[in-house]
Amino acid sequence: MKKTILALVAITAPLLLGASKPIYLDSSKPMDLRVDDALSRMNLSEKIALIHAQSKFCSPGVARLGIPELWTTDGPHGIRPEVLWDEWNQAGWTSDSCVAFPALTCLAASWNPDMSALYGKSISEEALYRGKDVLLGPGVNILRTPLNGRNFEYMGEDPYLASKMVVPYIRNCQDNGVAVCVKHYALNNQEFERHNTNVVIDDRTLYEIYLPAFKAAVEDGGAWSIMGSYNLYQNQHVCHNDRLLNKILKGEWGFDGAVISDWGGTHDTREAITNGLDLEFGTWTDGLSMGATNAYDNYHMARPYLELIEKGEVGTDELDEKCRRVLRLIFRTAMNNEKGYGSLCSDEHYEAARRIGDEGIVLLKNKKNLLPVRLDGTGKPRILVVGENAIKMMTVGGGSSSLKVQHEVLPLDGIRAFCGDRADVDFARGYIGDVNVMQDGLSTGQDLTDSRSQQQLMDEAVAKAAKADYVIFVGGLNKASGQDCEDSDRKSLGLPYGQDELIEALAKANGNLVVVNISGNPVAMPWVDKVPAIVQAWFLGSEAGNSIADILFGAVNPSGKLPMTFPVALSDVGAHAAGPASYPGIRREGSDKYDTEYSEGILVGYRWSDAKKIKPLFAFGHGLSYTTFDYGKLKADKKSIADGESITFTIPVTNSGKTAGAEIVQLYISDPESSVMRPVKELKAFEKVYLKPGETRDVKFTVGKDALSYFDADKHCWVAEPGEFVAHAAAASDDIRSSVRFSLK
Ligand code: BGC
Repeated sequence: MKKTILALVAITAPLLLGASKPIYLDSSKPMDLRVDDALSRMNLSEKIALIHAQSKFCSPGVARLGIPELWTTDGPHGIRPEVLWDEWNQAGWTSDSCVAFPALTCLAASWNPDMSALYGKSISEEALYRGKDVLLGPGVNILRTPLNGRNFEYMGEDPYLASKMVVPYIRNCQDNGVAVCVKHYALNNQEFERHNTNVVIDDRTLYEIYLPAFKAAVEDGGAWSIMGSYNLYQNQHVCHNDRLLNKILKGEWGFDGAVISDWGGTHDTREAITNGLDLEFGTWTDGLSMGATNAYDNYHMARPYLELIEKGEVGTDELDEKCRRVLRLIFRTAMNNEKGYGSLCSDEHYEAARRIGDEGIVLLKNKKNLLPVRLDGTGKPRILVVGENAIKMMTVGGGSSSLKVQHEVLPLDGIRAFCGDRADVDFARGYIGDVNVMQDGLSTGQDLTDSRSQQQLMDEAVAKAAKADYVIFVGGLNKASGQDCEDSDRKSLGLPYGQDELIEALAKANGNLVVVNISGNPVAMPWVDKVPAIVQAWFLGSEAGNSIADILFGAVNPSGKLPMTFPVALSDVGAHAAGPASYPGIRREGSDKYDTEYSEGILVGYRWSDAKKIKPLFAFGHGLSYTTFDYGKLKADKKSIADGESITFTIPVTNSGKTAGAEIVQLYISDPESSVMRPVKELKAFEKVYLKPGETRDVKFTVGKDALSYFDADKHCWVAEPGEFVAHAAAASDDIRSSVRFSLK
């Protein structure tokens, strides 16, 4: 009885007192009204607190008003393990293992926006379950040089492909109430001296190559936050860069979300105030250990900002604007009461990781149809697996994308599981690469030490190879510093640890050699003509071994294509043509700053190979299948288009082989007569079509004037010049199947 009375009082009292829900807590009210209402209730110190971190990965809300903290997490391939409040070291929780999804290069290699959607949905469910509001990813920095240690986190070299692939990831992630934080905006195309590199670039190149994927993320994806990058542009750090943040991102693109600094990317209080930064993270990455009572109070956008306001040196308009953006981010995520609870390590997430891996692996070469390895013939094939990457976990390491996984199927285990007793699978390590199995206090638990010499390892592998029916070499790069890893660049295009020599020796010993290259970057392959089958497997995450086995044994027909050019040598890459001035940059005298001039301009990736007539090792857009596809004639629905019109191209594509499979049909456009230099051709549409044996489908592409335009820096707008254009239907950037001319009136 007493309880009932108390409950009745609790329910009716606020009504009787006339109290109603404050506007900011009422999600039925318009967002801006809620934001203004919350802001009007906050005092100065609460506002200052809202715009900087209070720990490694979290910023405070407004505790007095019941506005919760904002929890960010790396990203971008799975949900990072919990770290200590002030340190990078992991916290040692037991409930923070995740599913690692394939790295974003693999996603891009699927050329399938449905896989991006699946990725965004799945990873955001993991984030939700782990209580995270902002996922620090995806990354869309353009691959300018294959030496960049972080290319594995990005979506390749082409602005159109990256734009199309990033949008579904964002939408499906944010549909679950988890914000993306698209990174690293912008021009962060190398890790070497990443805090000190000033990028010198012309506007046309900026707008045509390096900005489109970010613009798509904002305008088409509706990204709720974006990460300012470490480097400088126009001699100003990008985390507080007036042009990139105020003028372009917030001005031209109308971005209404929050700009979050990369961790430790803020360097100047006054610039941070005026130049578009909204939320500061990681400034003193050692947090409390800096000696101050609370190092977070000393962030640029903390006490120093407050003091400038109190001294009357700066006003509070910018502060209110920053708070509005951060509040909007919190309302969209932490205070989004529509969002669910997510799920962690579910069967669906493993299945998603495997599907994305299956679709992103690229069959680069397959002489005499060596692959798939057949297990259904008479007798058991003897399969020798060679290489450290067959047994090394790749989810720990690489920098901020390092993960603690519930499980990771190693390539050797995936191959063994797939074969069961249908084959005799043996293993030889072949070489020792990187035996480190730790990052941030987290170990994979593997012991990869081996006391044998490289020669002994190689001799063993070669002797076993001579007796095998098939040799599957699984090598490539790894996540060690100087390989595919944050904070350093690779030193060369070549494979490390003597792998080239080993591959040559294996090729001599056994004609049925398959090389599986695991990397997030192109690598040199001096042995390419001696190896009949080559597979590009990226960092595939939890299901790595299963996806690799799916492809090697033909359970899945490969359908990925390269999202970047594999050059023969570094000298074939535009970014390296002008020597150190264009990469890694030249150090200014008496300064710690470097200038890196993007002197190759818009000729990045295949645009460079095309212009300079350089034959790549494997071209952008290249990828084989276990079936064959025939292309018919490309037709246009009209001969010419006027301003505002679109044109539709149609090409019949037939699966002319015996296996069901998918083909990525690419549409490139050339502008042969132009008053300015244009790339030989540029990707403007693509579609992945699934075809049964014998099936034909008309693949259609509709493009408008924007696909014909270049960026006119003087006029600061996109221009399509009237005249002739050519559309090419292609299976790869070096494999045009049919072309048709048309004109713009
Ligand atoms: C990286 C970011 C990452 C952040 C937090 C930085 O060093 O550049 O990509 O999100 O750390 O871990």
